[in-house]
Amino acid sequence: MTYNKKTIEDIDVAGKRVLVRCDFNVPLKDGVITSDKRIVEALPTIKYLLDKGAKVILCSHMGKPHSIFTEGFGLTKKEKQKVEALPAEEQAAAKAELLEKALGDKKKFTLKPVAVRLNELLGDKVTFAEDIIGPDAKAKVAALEAGKAVLIENVRFDARETKNGADFAKELADYADVYVNDAFGSAHRAHASTAGVAAYLPAVCGYLIQKEISVMGKALADPARPFVAILGGAKVSDKIGVINNLIEKVDTLIIGGGMAYTFFKAQGHDVGTSLCEEDKLDLANEMVAKAKAKGVNFMIPVDNIVATEYDENAEHKLVNSDDIPAGWMGLDIGPKTREIFANAIKGAGTVVWNGPMGVSEWKNFAAGTEAVAAAVAESGAISIIGGGDSAAAVEKLGFADKMTHISTGGGASLEFLEGKDLPGISCLLDK
Ligand code: 3PG
Repeated sequence: MTYNKKTIEDIDVAGKRVLVRCDFNVPLKDGVITSDKRIVEALPTIKYLLDKGAKVILCSHMGKPHSIFTEGFGLTKKEKQKVEALPAEEQAAAKAELLEKALGDKKKFTLKPVAVRLNELLGDKVTFAEDIIGPDAKAKVAALEAGKAVLIENVRFDARETKNGADFAKELADYADVYVNDAFGSAHRAHASTAGVAAYLPAVCGYLIQKEISVMGKALADPARPFVAILGGAKVSDKIGVINNLIEKVDTLIIGGGMAYTFFKAQGHDVGTSLCEEDKLDLANEMVAKAKAKGVNFMIPVDNIVATEYDENAEHKLVNSDDIPAGWMGLDIGPKTREIFANAIKGAGTVVWNGPMGVSEWKNFAAGTEAVAAAVAESGAISIIGGGDSAAAVEKLGFADKMTHISTGGGASLEFLEGKDLPGISCLLDK
């Protein structure tokens, strides 16, 4: 999909109230942000707007919380039905238990830590509102001064967000004169704050969305060759769309990770207890045939690290791909494969990588992902890393600054690479 959308530079924002949707869905451990990449990547847009004297209303989701504000007494419809089906004397306790869980989510998924980090990065320009369309947010938005921002609470605390409720989108729009979407990581979601709101306000993209779609769009439309795509991850079914789209464009397609075992099985090899989608065997063969017909160099692992069970410390050994013993499962690519893949990556003009080569979070099964990360970093190619696990691996290994672009989107970058329309972008004004 090619987009040519208006950006914040194409619209007058000076002195205006600007609603900015960011993706502040950052990883947290015990309330502490463990990677602020998504916050840092949102700063150019926020700074531009503040410098222009806009009154900035920031919003985002965090996690997948229980929607506590709009479902009656705090329960979802389903939970309510469940409670009402119980004997009368048990209803109060069940209700209290579910409500407690919901309130736990409110603490767990609050955006408060993001406001703290934003203030560290921006120099105390952001206030935090404890609600979304409630009294606190309304008062803080009304009191906003030019060049200042307010971050309202997690939009997913309102059940209407993920349902793309028109009334919720309108209530958000009522805060502002202009809507800016800069939440690339959520651009594949047609939610109220990512897409619905654009029906009520002039809607443009921020610098992050602009950067993501221009770097990845160029790689797909006009890649420096050879164009090498590396796809990993657990399931073929998650990557069908992206494989199909990339087969049309790449010179080499490298397959690793759990999904490689479905390809081995399709070729008639035993895969032991490895992950395998039996119902995708024909599809796997069709993809190989399609790649061949297009002249694409299609590579799957020749050796693997297999283990007795899916456990970090499981007994493990090296075997060839046509020699996986019964009762063993493949959890990483082997050293011969690492070398073959690295050689293919070495000469690339463009590399797109999405998905780890093995269970990269476990030391014993991380070598494949590490070798690919190192090869991409050293290749000198235009390198684009889809979000999620491959991005995390690249960052953890200290290769982040050697990559051309590390997407802030996991699902969103995958859908973009599939050539799908992203509702959070298509809803914006064309240039
Ligand atoms: C992500 O982390 O991929 C985005 O923030 C989207 O989150 P979601 O999958 O909960 O919609």
